[in-house]
Order: sequence, then structure tokens, then C-alpha cells
Amino acid sequence: MLKVKDLSVSYGNKVALTVSNLEIKKGEIIGVMGQSGSGKSTLVKSCLGLIPFKGEVIIETDDIGVLMQEQYYVDTMTNQKIIEGLLNTRLNKDSKLQELVDFFEFSSQLSHHFKNISGGQKQRMSLIMVLYQEPTLLFLDEMTTGLDFESRQALIIQLKAYFRQHQTTVVMVTHYAQEIEQLADKLLIIHDGRVIAFDEPKRLFQQYVGYSAFIIGNHIKTSVKVQQPDQEYAVARRLISDGDDFRRTQGDIELVYTEVMKGEQA
Ligand SMILES: Nc1ncnc2c1ncn2[C@@H]1O[C@H](COP(=O)(O)OP(=O)(O)O)[C@@H](O)[C@H]1O
Ligand SMILES: [Mg+2]
Repeated sequence: MLKVKDLSVSYGNKVALTVSNLEIKKGEIIGVMGQSGSGKSTLVKSCLGLIPFKGEVIIETDDIGVLMQEQYYVDTMTNQKIIEGLLNTRLNKDSKLQELVDFFEFSSQLSHHFKNISGGQKQRMSLIMVLYQEPTLLFLDEMTTGLDFESRQALIIQLKAYFRQHQTTVVMVTHYAQEIEQLADKLLIIHDGRVIAFDEPKRLFQQYVGYSAFIIGNHIKTSVKVQQPDQEYAVARRLISDGDDFRRTQGDIELVYTEVMKGEQA
């Protein structure tokens, strides 16, 4: 669906991103993580052809949807008028639009003005308009940044159902490991303009964390890694006898991310 080869993007004479090889298959959901300024949006923008780059980006579809962190619409009309105007349709005559409005539980917001609805509702409204075009390939760049936990969670559950049903290929930039955990087939980690990891979360977990890890207390960064399956029992016994509060994990994305970044910064 998407192939990137020998990509290099510079702003002025500063190279912001290089990607030697990246391939995303049809129907895959790719989560992209990385520190602020690492080059995530640069990757999205070059795939969309919004900025000049060297190298190759091959996309096997013209049906591309994009959703960025913030949207702005003219605010002299109701949300319904904005949606109808931008999509050039009428809600009462358009069952596809009605379905999307119902799916994202947006009907009670239609008579409101954009500036008066919540961040999560704003993203839902934009999603309705982006998904109305039935994109085969969808880029979401920090769509949920700034939303509270409940809004993000509700949106993730809806998107998960939608993507599964429509087989959408998705590149999703996010700061929240929780979203990768629930949605992504693969995790791409970018650091300092380079791809430092790209694989299934489960495989990255084994590679960087081990077979399982014990997270002690509430602080995710205090962890004991287990590299052999049969060590788990011994470690658990030890933690119990020490009276430590812990939980066991076999696929914690935040832990993977922390470990991968640790390796890069050492
Ligand atoms: N239009 C631009 N002009 C100059 N530098 C830019 C521009 N856009 C981004 N950069 C720089 O390129 C790097 C990567 O930016 P970006 O891809 O936006 O990072 P991210 O999305 O991961 O936060 C940063 O150092 C940023 O300051
Ligand atoms: Mg960005």
C-alpha cells in the first residue's frame, strides 16, 4: 500500500528525516511514536507530498484521508451546515452520512457551533468528514493529543471497529502507548529523524524487554525484565515475599518504547 525508499527530507540545510526502507501493507495499522521534533509529521507530510523530499514514496491508492491535531472551520454556521457544505450533500438525503453521524454519536452536536463543542467532538466531526470519502489509506497525526483519557478511549473503540470493518490502512502518529496497544499491528519508533524500530509490538517486546516484565509500584519505569520464560516464577515469588506491589506484563508498549529510547540515548 505504501513504500518509502531512501527518503531524505531537509529543512534548509538541516536533514530532518531519513528513512532507507519502509513498507506498509494493505489493511495494516501502523502506530508511530517518537519525541517531539523527531520527524513524525515530516514523515506524514512527505508521504502526502506536502513537502519536498529526496527518494521515493510509492502509494498504491488515490483515496487518501488525513486528519491532523487541530482543525479550523468557519464558525458562522452550525456543524451540520459546515459538514453539508464541505461534503456537498444533505444529511436527510444521505444515508452514508447519517450512518457516520450515528456511528460517531454526533447527532446531538449537529445544531451546535464548532467552537462550542469539546475536543473529542471536534475530532469526531472531522473524522466523519474524512471517512465519508472512504479513504483506503488514512493518516492520523496526533489526532488525540490533548484529549482526556475517556475521550481518547471512546474514540479508539469506535475507530477500532471502523477500521476492522473497512480494512483501512492507517498510519497513526500518537503520544499514547495505550492507542498503539489497542489499535496498531506494528509500531514505528522515530528518533532524531531516523527509524529506530519497526515491527509488531509483540516482537518488539520480546526483543527489547524479554519474555515478560514485572512493573513494580505504579511507576512504569521501575521494571524487572525476564529473559527466560522459566525465570518468571522465581521473580514473582521474590516480589511477593518482599511484599512489593507489582503487575506482570507481556506486551506493554510503553515499556518497549522506554527500552528502545534508552538504547538510543545511551
Ligand atoms: N517547516 C519547517 N521548517 C524548518 N524546520 C522544520 C519545519 N518543520 C519541522 N521542522 C523541524 O524538523 C524536525 C522534525 O519536525 P516534525 O516532523 O514536525 O517533528 P514531530 O512531528 O515528530 O514533532 C524538528 O526539528 C522541527 O523543528
Ligand atoms: Mg508532529
